[in-house]
Amino acid sequence: MVVVEAALAGPAIAIGAVGLAAVLAWLDAQNKSKKPELIYSPTPFNTAVMSRCPTLHSVYQCTPFLTNGHVETIVVAKARKPPGVDYRREMLITKDGGAVAIDWEHHDDAGKDLPADAPVLILFPGLTGGSGDSYVQHAVLQARHAGIRAAVFNSRGTADSPVLTPQFYSASFTGDTREVVDHVHKRFPNSTLFAAGWSLGANILVNYLGEQGEDTPIEAAVSMCNPFDLTISNKQINEGFNKIYNWNLAAGLKRIFAKHHLVWRGHSGPAQPQLVPTCTTIREFDEAITVHSFNWEDVDAYYAGSSSAKRIPAVRLPLLCIQALDDPIAPAEAIPCDAIQDNPYCMLAVTPCGGHLGWASGPGAPFQQPCLERPPSI
Ligand SMILES: *[C@@H]1O[C@H](CO)[C@@H](O)[C@H](O)[C@H]1NC(C)=O
Repeated sequence: MVVVEAALAGPAIAIGAVGLAAVLAWLDAQNKSKKPELIYSPTPFNTAVMSRCPTLHSVYQCTPFLTNGHVETIVVAKARKPPGVDYRREMLITKDGGAVAIDWEHHDDAGKDLPADAPVLILFPGLTGGSGDSYVQHAVLQARHAGIRAAVFNSRGTADSPVLTPQFYSASFTGDTREVVDHVHKRFPNSTLFAAGWSLGANILVNYLGEQGEDTPIEAAVSMCNPFDLTISNKQINEGFNKIYNWNLAAGLKRIFAKHHLVWRGHSGPAQPQLVPTCTTIREFDEAITVHSFNWEDVDAYYAGSSSAKRIPAVRLPLLCIQALDDPIAPAEAIPCDAIQDNPYCMLAVTPCGGHLGWASGPGAPFQQPCLERPPSI
């Protein structure tokens, strides 16, 4: 009898422990789940927009075991696979002789060509990201589902696009953005034009919107996981566990650079391409390449001058900013809440969980689409 009890005790304790962990994780997720915090001026327009985004008004369900921003960021990056999009690539040669690859989805859900006046959504992926990333592809599918033509702006060198001149891109270089937006508008002059960006892409988009004010064909935009203040976010990404993202993103930059390093060879500029292979942080990469390409005095001046937070007051079209409170890469401290509150064109929603580019909530999390990208019912 004693032997049987002893034999059962081990598995029973193990099952009990797993059960307890699951219950605690569930309780923790329930505890953290709440409605997104919303900050905006209650103008009739903003109120109407918000009323069409039911997701922003309901409780954001944090997913058990993913209530930690790090865990959610990493698990989602591994678990969420690109659904697969059949793009058509268009190469745009920019005025300075560089190239930007625009990846188009021209079809609707039934596989038919979208009409020439279908709305167009330009998507701006994050640092080292591109049209192949899962969060981008899910957004493309959601757009297609809503009858919207999607165009992914792949920054120079990303998504296997060519690099024709010794210049990549930067957090505040909006020259390519301007050319791409104008080009898309020329191609589809009868279409309503929208834009959405993630992370560094959001920072670039908001910089562009602030610089242009009313002078842009874009009619409304969304910024997600925007680092907003690059001095704060770069400091944060150098601390503790966050170093893993820094290292990972630097590795991505190095991989892209390695494909194109011959373009830099023999180029007599101040850039230091020979330092790139030993870079272990984004900052070191920026010091070797970015600050020289865009004539910044040093990397601190570059981060201070490229933060999109300071462009918020100049935005003159509806801009919805969505952030996660526990985003380890675009930290909550960097969100310009006051500037957003003071600009009637800007709206902010902060979810209690979400990590960076995560937003794994609801059925199918963390494998399915980010929860906030379901288009509002129109
Ligand atoms: C835009 O609309 C005008 C007027 O309906 C039409 O003549 C023109 O062909 C359209 N342009 C495109 C590119 O669809």
